[in-house]
Amino acid sequence: MARVASLTIGDKKIDLPVIVGSEGEVGIDIAKLRQETGAITYDPGLGNTGACQSAITFIDGDKGYLRYRGIPIEQLAERSNFIETAWLLIFGKLPTRAELDRFAGRLGATAPLYPGFENQFSGYPKDAPPMAILSAMINTISCFNYDLANPDSDEAFEEAAARLISKVRTIAAAIYRMANALTYVAPDPSRSYVSNFLHMMFSKPGAAYELHAEVEDALDLILTLHADHEQNCSTSTVRVVGSSKANLFASCAAGVCALWGPLHGGANAEVLEMLGQIHAGGITADEYLKQVKEKKVLLYGFGHRVYKNFDPRAKILKEASDKVLAKLGVNDPLLDIARKLEELALKDSYFVDRKLYPNVDFYSGIIMKAIGIPVNMFTVLFAIGRMPGWIAQWKEQRDEGGRIARPRQIYTGPTRTDYAPIESRG
Ligand code: SDX
Repeated sequence: MARVASLTIGDKKIDLPVIVGSEGEVGIDIAKLRQETGAITYDPGLGNTGACQSAITFIDGDKGYLRYRGIPIEQLAERSNFIETAWLLIFGKLPTRAELDRFAGRLGATAPLYPGFENQFSGYPKDAPPMAILSAMINTISCFNYDLANPDSDEAFEEAAARLISKVRTIAAAIYRMANALTYVAPDPSRSYVSNFLHMMFSKPGAAYELHAEVEDALDLILTLHADHEQNCSTSTVRVVGSSKANLFASCAAGVCALWGPLHGGANAEVLEMLGQIHAGGITADEYLKQVKEKKVLLYGFGHRVYKNFDPRAKILKEASDKVLAKLGVNDPLLDIARKLEELALKDSYFVDRKLYPNVDFYSGIIMKAIGIPVNMFTVLFAIGRMPGWIAQWKEQRDEGGRIARPRQIYTGPTRTDYAPIESRG
C-alpha cells in the first residue's frame, strides 16, 4: 500500500499521507488539505470519514467481526460478563482477580444515590420519557462528584467510571419506580451488578425480587453485547462534547440524548412497536414489508451503517432469545413474527441488494420483554450497557489530547445581502 495519496484539484496536485491501521484499514490524512488547496472534503453522515484512531473496538462490517480490545464478541459473550468487559474496554486489558474485586467493590459502594436525590424524580410527569430523565440525572450526579468530573489519575478514573456505571443503573431503576408510583428501592450491596438492578426495579416491600440465573445471565449478555461499538452516533457525540474539555458526566449525558433517537438506540423499542402492530392483526408481515419497500415505514432492527453482513450481536441474541424464553417458560408470538420477518426479508432482493440484515436491536427487545423490562425502558438498558464504551472512548480521546471537534461546511445560502428596514419589506 502506497504511503501517500495523490490528489489533483484544479491546477494543484498534492500528496497526502496515508495511515494504515492494525487491521489494514486505510485512511487518507487530510489535515493539510484546506491549507494546501483551499478545498475541504464533503461527507454528510460521515460514512467515509475517520474522526479518530482508536484501539478500543474493531468492527469488520463485511465479515461480521466485532472485537473489544481484540477479543471476539462471541468469546466475551460466552465466557466473560458485563463488569469484566467494562474493565477491558476502559483500561485496555482483562482485569486481574484483584482488579475485578476492587472494581466490583467500588460499584457496590457507590450504588446508592445521594441523600434526598430521589426527590429529584418526583417533579417529573409520570409519562416523562425515561431517556430525558436519564440524561438530566447523569448531569445531576456530576454536581455531587465534581471532583471526579475530570479524573486526572488512574485511581480517580477508576472511581469515576465505577460511579457512572453503578449509578446509571440505580437512576434507571428509580426512573421506573417513579413512573409506576412505586417506592424507591435502595441497592443491596450483597447482590451482583445485574441482580441489584433487577432488585431495585422489581422488589416489593417485604418481597425481595427473586432472581433466576437465566434472567441474570440474559440481561448480563445484553449489557455485554451493547458495551461498545466504535464510532457510532452516540459515541461520536460523547467524543465531540468531550473534545471541548467538557467533563465525563456531561459528555455521557449528551451520549444518552444521541442514543435516544429511533434510528439508533431507540430502535429496540420501535422493533417491539412494529412487531406489536403485526401481531395485533392490523397488518401481516408480508404487508408490512410491502410498506417498507414503498418507503412508507422502516424495518426497525434491520440495516447498519457498518455491517453489510449479519451483525454478530444479532446472531448471538437470536440464539439467546430461544433459550431464554424457553427457560422462562415464555411463549411470545412476537418472536415468531420476528423470525418470519427475518426469513422473508433475507429472501427478498430489496433487502438483500441493500445488504440489510438484522442488527443488535432486532432481538434484544424480545429478551428484555421476557425478563419483564417495559418497552419504554429498553433504550435506557442500551444506555446502561453502552456506558463503559462511552467512558473508554472519552478517556482515549482525553489521553491523546485531541483538538476540539469543529467540522467545516459548504455554504449554500444567500451571497452578500444588505439589511432592509421593516418599512421596505414585502
Ligand atoms: C444501532 O452505528 C452503530 O454502530 C449503531 C449501533 C451501536 O451499537 O451503536 O449498532 C446501534 O443504532 C443499530 C441500528 C438501529 N437502527 C435501526 O434498526 C433503525 C432502522 N435502520 C435504518 O434506519 C438504517 O439501516 C440505519 C440508520 C441503521 C443505517 O442507515 P444508513 O447507513 O444511513 O443507511 P441508508 O439510509 O443509507 O440505507 C441504504 C438503503 C436506503 O434505500 P435506498 O435509498 O438505497 O433505496 O437502505 C434502506 C434505505 O432506505 N434502508 C432501509 C433500512 N435501513 C436502510 N429500508 C428499510 N428499513 C431499514 N431498516
